[in-house]
Amino acid sequence: MSCIDVAHLSKSYGGVLAVDDLTLSIKPGQVFGFLGPNGAGKSTVIKLLTTLVSPSAGSLSILGTDAIADPLKIRRKIGVVLQQPSYEPTLSVEKALEKYGMMWDVPRLERKERMEQLLIDFDLADIRKKRNEDLSIGQRRRVQVAREFMHDMELLFLDEPTVGLDPRARRRLLDYLKDRVKTGLTIFYTTNILTEAEYLCDEIAIIDKGKIIMVDSPDALKNKFGKEKTIKIHLSTRQHAVSSLLSGIPDCKIDFETGTSIIIRSEQSEPLLLRVLTILYDNKIDIQDLSAVPTNLEEIFLNVVGDNASHN
Ligand SMILES: Nc1ncnc2c1ncn2[C@@H]1O[C@H](COP(=O)(O)OP(=O)(O)OP(=O)(O)O)[C@@H](O)[C@H]1O
Ligand SMILES: [Mg+2]
Repeated sequence: MSCIDVAHLSKSYGGVLAVDDLTLSIKPGQVFGFLGPNGAGKSTVIKLLTTLVSPSAGSLSILGTDAIADPLKIRRKIGVVLQQPSYEPTLSVEKALEKYGMMWDVPRLERKERMEQLLIDFDLADIRKKRNEDLSIGQRRRVQVAREFMHDMELLFLDEPTVGLDPRARRRLLDYLKDRVKTGLTIFYTTNILTEAEYLCDEIAIIDKGKIIMVDSPDALKNKFGKEKTIKIHLSTRQHAVSSLLSGIPDCKIDFETGTSIIIRSEQSEPLLLRVLTILYDNKIDIQDLSAVPTNLEEIFLNVVGDNASHN
């Protein structure tokens, strides 16, 4: 059974179609990554799935409940950390956690236990007495995410939770989330950081202009698009002859950006590279440097989103 089932979901704000005919099914017990550029519709989808805004069209079922007919039933079972900072300025870190536990009716002893554990897990113990308004941006974000774990939930929505976090805090949060998923939590996670999605997510949907472009595992996405390699060769000096010398090489795109650089982008980049190097060597053309760019999700993402943009 899936824990999120969405069919033909749309949301328009005035004339802007923020979410455009979205159909999606998400299995429980995994991190589902929602990846897209600014304005793609990620936050709008989170608000729709958490019943904070109502759709213009379509149906959605969350944890087996019709989200449009019975939003309150769903809200009790989910957690959400929105993109906007939210905090009470004068509350201390520990009071903020405590208050959240009270809001969710967590019994006093358990509240205390959870708070102590979260202060450790989110590296907040040293600043537990500090007021929210005196915290750094990253510290405040950590409190905002940590407090969501004061209550039990089946499904957690996180909208770019690592923005403002330093690399260590970021990795610590991602590892914490992975651990929680092992104990049965399902996480819907938005980001525009590819490496993060690659590290954390079991499945990734790439969204642009309110539409899902593709859904797959990080590995499958890499296999599908990752065969192509990019090799860059920089020549020591501008060589006018290069263009005609290399014109017979098939199946590769050779750009002459400045007259000193050659770019081979192909699924069979190695034999092509060998041919190019032979021609350069035979013609006594010196190479300044040569690099092979590993295909990562970042490039796939830029290509996919870029292609999509140019088709519109
Ligand atoms: N309350 C609103 N009123 C009008 N337009 C809105 C509203 N909320 C979002 N939009 C528009 O909907 C589109 C999608 O916005 P959304 O915030 O969902 O994008 P996003 O993918 O979360 O972007 P980001 O990465 O910048 O957070 C944008 O064009 C935005 O301007
Ligand atoms: Mg957003």
